[in-house]
Amino acid sequence: MIKGVVLAGGKGTRLWPVTKVAGKHFLPVGDKPIIYYPILTLKKAGVKDILIVCGPEHTEQYVRLLGSGEEFGVNLYYTIQVEPVGIAHGLGLAKSFSDGKKVALILGDNIFGDEFSKAFADFDRKDRGAAVVLKRVPDPHRFGVAKFNGRKVERVIEKPKRPPSDLAVTGLYLYDNRVFDVIKNLKPSARGEYEITDVNNYYINEGTMDFIRAKKFWIDAGTFESLHRANLLVRKHHYSK
Ligand code: G1P
Repeated sequence: MIKGVVLAGGKGTRLWPVTKVAGKHFLPVGDKPIIYYPILTLKKAGVKDILIVCGPEHTEQYVRLLGSGEEFGVNLYYTIQVEPVGIAHGLGLAKSFSDGKKVALILGDNIFGDEFSKAFADFDRKDRGAAVVLKRVPDPHRFGVAKFNGRKVERVIEKPKRPPSDLAVTGLYLYDNRVFDVIKNLKPSARGEYEITDVNNYYINEGTMDFIRAKKFWIDAGTFESLHRANLLVRKHHYSK
């Protein structure tokens, strides 16, 4: 059984002044707060136990909004990432929660039109390794981007000025439990963060990374432009529980 982690830390500075007081993950997309979407993505993929990693500013609001998870039919747990020092650091906080199992990490502002139950079941059968979800995007410089050597992904490059492809690494990742050792050995990047891209490149180098393609829509609602687009997409595709 894969354990789920939703990373909802960060200060949402790209959405200031709106998120100076109200946390980004509580803003509406369609008829739901943003944070509902990643929880539903994990739930629909068959995950039952989910750890919400939140920033210290809004812990109480997360608990008030989401509670035990009963509304979603999952068990929710909470922990705090005191400083927003990267996605890999946030995942590292889930070590004891993971209880030696595989983990699925999803970023708290990522909204997927796809459903991943088959991909998760396939991954659960694997002995070891990782998987990331790729999506073709018009603005790859905003993301981690796959660099190909022929048909093989050679590595992921974080926010490249000159993107080597238009396939972005989305904010949904699957890892075996060795990921916590990988994270322990990471060094912070130039922007002072423990990068999930470094974790992904570890598995790519090892030859144990799988790539899942998102076919429907995907958006991270982290900027005003993408928040607006997220609302249009959710409405257009009649996204529902
Ligand atoms: C993060 C990751 C990036 C990924 C993106 C997906 O970027 O570092 O590789 O493509 O999430 O939403 P950030 O949102 O921290 O800028």
